[in-house]
This record gives sequence, C-alpha cells and structure tokens, in this order.
Amino acid sequence: MDILKARPETNPLDKLPSVLKQNLDKNLCTCMDVLKMDVINAIANGATTLDEVKKQTYAATGAGCCVQQVERLIECLCAPEPRKRRARRKHRE
Ligand code: FES
Repeated sequence: MDILKARPETNPLDKLPSVLKQNLDKNLCTCMDVLKMDVINAIANGATTLDEVKKQTYAATGAGCCVQQVERLIECLCAPEPRKRRARRKHRE
C-alpha cells in the first residue's frame, strides 16, 4: 500500500527526525532483507507494536539486531500529534 494513500492528510515521514529519513530504500533488517520504507509503511498502516511489524514485514525476526531501530520508528511514527496550546482565557472580570 502506498504510504501517501494510507493517510493522505499527513505524511508519516514528517514525524521522523531527519536522521531516520535517510536510507529509506536500504535494508533496515539485513537478516530478513526488509527495506526501511517497508517497515515505515507497515507502521503507517496500523502496526503499532514490534510484534505487529514482525508479522507484517518479517523485520526483526532474524537475530534481532534491528529491534531497536524498529522500535524507534514505532515510537516516532506512533507518537501523538503535539497538542496545540490553547490560548489562555483572560479573566478580567
Ligand atoms: S537485522 Fe533485523 S533481525 Fe537482524
């Protein structure tokens, strides 16, 4: 599924720090030959836990060397949107 079709109102890549936006077309999981973009797509399309990403992509199911990278992507992509600060009401009565 195309990442932009999943949630057209937001681009999940916008939630990632620039360092995590690099090498999207390279393997994140070398053990299982899974691209970083495939992991990002899985998370953007609803995988919110390591187990769900494993089931959808097979990433992190080898020796486990990329578990922290997958968890970091989940953490960034599943983080709630920052709340807009409410304007403080002025109580001048
Ligand atoms: S690189 Fe992903 S399990 Fe080893």
